[in-house]
Amino acid sequence: MSNPEFKRKIACIGAGYVGGPTMAIIANKCPEYKVTVVDISQPRIDAWNSDTLPIFEPGLNERVLSTRGKNLFFSTDVDSAISEADIIFVSVNTPTKTFGQGAGKAADLQFIEKTARKIKEVSKSDKIVVEKSTVPVRAADTLDQILHSGNRGPHFEILSNPEFLAEGTAVGDMENPDRILIGSKETKKGLEAREELCKVYEHWVPRERLITTNLWSSELSKLVSNAFLAQRISSINSIAAICEATEASVSEVSNAVGRDSRIGKKFLQAGVGFGGSCFRKDILNLVYLCEYHGLEEVAEYWRQVVAINDFQMSRFVKRITKAMFNTLVDKKIALFGFAFKPDTGDTRDAPALQVSLGLLEERAKLSITDPHALQNARLDLGGCEGTVEFEEDPYKAVAGAHAIALVTEWSSFKELDFKKIYDLMEKPAFIFDGRNLLDHKALFEIGFNVYPLGKPDLKHF
Ligand code: NAD
Ligand code: UGA
Repeated sequence: MSNPEFKRKIACIGAGYVGGPTMAIIANKCPEYKVTVVDISQPRIDAWNSDTLPIFEPGLNERVLSTRGKNLFFSTDVDSAISEADIIFVSVNTPTKTFGQGAGKAADLQFIEKTARKIKEVSKSDKIVVEKSTVPVRAADTLDQILHSGNRGPHFEILSNPEFLAEGTAVGDMENPDRILIGSKETKKGLEAREELCKVYEHWVPRERLITTNLWSSELSKLVSNAFLAQRISSINSIAAICEATEASVSEVSNAVGRDSRIGKKFLQAGVGFGGSCFRKDILNLVYLCEYHGLEEVAEYWRQVVAINDFQMSRFVKRITKAMFNTLVDKKIALFGFAFKPDTGDTRDAPALQVSLGLLEERAKLSITDPHALQNARLDLGGCEGTVEFEEDPYKAVAGAHAIALVTEWSSFKELDFKKIYDLMEKPAFIFDGRNLLDHKALFEIGFNVYPLGKPDLKHF
């Protein structure tokens, strides 16, 4: 039974990578609020209520365990959570549309719309409805129209409060955010609702970090933030290609450029490309919005960020093939890392998948190792049995391999005994370090032919 003394009740619809962690932090910081996270997926909710949470995120277990059953609840009873809530966060998925108009670009808003219809159906009292999911600009209009359609009913005030956390650092990002963005209508009720949400965050976020805007600026700022971050990665990755052609080092260039305080050094780490469930999706969403508004030149500008990312992943595979005497047929390649970044088990849109498919097309055999993402990797590569193995133990993954392709920069890979690894591999042994994680000189001295990313090769022939 929950405490009847709770000051306010919050519901969050969608218990995913955003809904779960954000609500766990709100529950920790606001003990007088009751926070209920609901989802239509029974297995997901069961996992949130178990000892093995559905997502791996450093620090999350402790935050969930300290509040679960006190003021944090996970349930599939969507109706009851909506019915009792004062504030409803909508944290459902907004993937890229795969069908019909805008397929491959526009956001698929079916889950948002179904949620809105459910809120309307169940609600008997006024509520604040918060868009936490990433949505196209003016999605709040659609929500408003659905929620207020038909007979007179309760009033819903819609806020936009996009989430900026990154996976792997979600707890720290939530507990110490650069900023919290809240968009609202600039009416009396809109401003009151905005203040109500500010009060939640003010439990732990200094007021000067709360940014308030109109609804459309808030919705657009989320897409633009992701587009700018991804743009920096594509910029440095495009330079990595020039570095490889000219024997410049992308790390040195990145450092020299990033030391200009106007440019800044963050997000200039060249790699095999950006992954994750959002960068590609959100840029394509921005591209679609530009096209919709007749801004073809602007659309083309942002489309290039995705094009360079695709180029970077295929360039990595080409470099492997070329270095290994132009054939990978029947050669075993150990793939180090499958998650789209370290400290998460998430493999959505992971570069590792594109790299794997590229290597398999060349008829290589793969042995994939990853500290937390093997379960998802198995699902992603279902149907490739016979050509792909999954190994918890990196030493087993490299046995008899011709090459290692490092795709995710897990710090544990740095601790491995590369002399032992070299001895287990076929010769000549190759390492392609797609994240520039390892000590390349030391590997070369062991006997490896080393191919860092965006830097000169170190090879013995
Ligand atoms: P997710 O797929 O992990 O979780 C979404 C959840 O919503 C799923 O569990 C799904 O079952 C549930 N759901 C869908 N329709 C529902 C309905 N009608 N009723 C109840 N539950 C429903 O997605 P996510 O990664 O948490 O992302 C959610 C949103 O947040 C997206 O818009 C995404 O762009 C945005 N976002 C994600 C991140 C991130 O790091 N993953 C960061 C910032 C913003
Ligand atoms: C990103 C943003 O950083 C978050 O602010 C945003 O909330 C989130 O997307 C979202 O909207 O989903 P996330 O995708 O979890 O977070 O992780 P990032 O740290 O941004 O990394 C994304 C990808 O870029 C990874 O594949 C990573 O390896 C790659 N990356 C990142 C680089 O290749 N180089 C860099 O310098 C930084």
